Amino acid sequence: MAHSLFSTKPITELHEAGSADELNRVLDARALVLLGIGAIIGTGIFVLTGTAAANHAGPALVLSFVIAGIGCAFAGLCYAEFAAMIPVSGSAYSYSYATLGEFVAWFVGWNLILEYLFAGATIAVGWSGYVVSLADQIGLHMPDVLTNAPFTKGEGHWELVRTGALVNLPAVLIVCVITALSYIGIQQSSRFNGVVVAIKVTVIVLFIGFGAWYVQGANWDPFIPPNEGPGRYGMSGVVTAAGIIFFAYIGFDAVSTAAQETRNPQRNMPIGILVSLAVCTVLYIGVAAVLTGMVPYQELNTPAPVAMALDRYPGLSWLAGWVKMGAIAGMTSTMLVMLLGQPRIFYSMAKDGLLPPVFGKVHPKFKSPSFSTLLTGVLAAAIAGALPVTILGELVSIGTLLAFIVVCIGVLVLRHTRPDLKRPFRVRLPWLVCTLGALICTYMMISLPKDTWVRLLVWTFFGMLIYAFYGWKHSALGRPRQG
Ligand code: ALA
Repeated sequence: MAHSLFSTKPITELHEAGSADELNRVLDARALVLLGIGAIIGTGIFVLTGTAAANHAGPALVLSFVIAGIGCAFAGLCYAEFAAMIPVSGSAYSYSYATLGEFVAWFVGWNLILEYLFAGATIAVGWSGYVVSLADQIGLHMPDVLTNAPFTKGEGHWELVRTGALVNLPAVLIVCVITALSYIGIQQSSRFNGVVVAIKVTVIVLFIGFGAWYVQGANWDPFIPPNEGPGRYGMSGVVTAAGIIFFAYIGFDAVSTAAQETRNPQRNMPIGILVSLAVCTVLYIGVAAVLTGMVPYQELNTPAPVAMALDRYPGLSWLAGWVKMGAIAGMTSTMLVMLLGQPRIFYSMAKDGLLPPVFGKVHPKFKSPSFSTLLTGVLAAAIAGALPVTILGELVSIGTLLAFIVVCIGVLVLRHTRPDLKRPFRVRLPWLVCTLGALICTYMMISLPKDTWVRLLVWTFFGMLIYAFYGWKHSALGRPRQG
């Protein structure tokens, strides 16, 4: 059959690739749930909750978490169906290759770079901010020129202007450390992740448990503050806030990139994705309710809202330092999963011939995709060292939402084109779940600023050039089959 833009990769080939024993199969369901929580809880809950409540939703931030959580749950169910059926490390990229064809697959794979690599960099910048503030608290001041991005958005939205800083050094250093961990192999990384997840979940549970005693009912009244214009309070504010705190849910899909390193992925993948998402949703709703109950929402416009709420009550100030450390630990593990996910997408794309073979090289001893891991580290470090969180965060959300939409549509397409396939996990009422998943994600995507859309188009354009000049010619689907 001739190779075309819409050629799909046969599922059997994906299965063959998935059963190749190049990567170590060491992860069980528990490790996957931890990997998911490690990826999910990070900058979003510890940083973005405050501004979302103060500027958009008020106490109804709880509802925003419910709305974004429902969108993610539908997308999560679709990811679970795919990850159990096609347990390969390419995630949304591989699923689109099997359902919507090579061109869409490239498009998704290219945009997943925005999710994983850029999220790794974004979180490193948030991490750096918390570390600098904690260091300040103990009297250790780091020079501003070495802890800030040298570039930021100019007056118009497009140009980058110099800030006078040289580099965000802590952000660069943490990316180097995390890259080294990913390089030496996923098993070691997974143990490290387990410890960090335990710390951040404990800190959040303590916040909810102790903070609940200090909630003042008056702070929840009115629960939905009256609307003051588009996106500012009222229901429209609740939805805008949902788009912002969507960032806090990103990461459950990263579980699917570990499919090739998972034992019995048919059973364990859905558990890993859905349980981690459910746990985080419950924790997030708890944090949002307690936070807005402890502090009037108008006062939450701060980069460290959770720690600030604790600082207000002398009876709770002992917990504030722990929360900062927990937040730093939380961001560290989020970064780890993102920087583990990216090389695995590169690996899958190289196996398909869409990227040069060196991207698919596996380290003989550590069994990690070595070149891709190092390249991811170098790029993420450069980006984290140079750019501010605003530019990075918006790009992450748009790239991720796009992947979620394609995955939701992909499940429906494959149900239609290959109803015969064995599906160890099936989405119930697929028409409803997939359609609602795609619609809610589209709505959140539309709520993102216009300049982010333009950056997405520019990014896509460069992706197309690479596909036209490399991927198309070298695609494994275009090669004559041997044997
Ligand atoms: N969900 C991740 C975070 O909030 C990306 O840091």
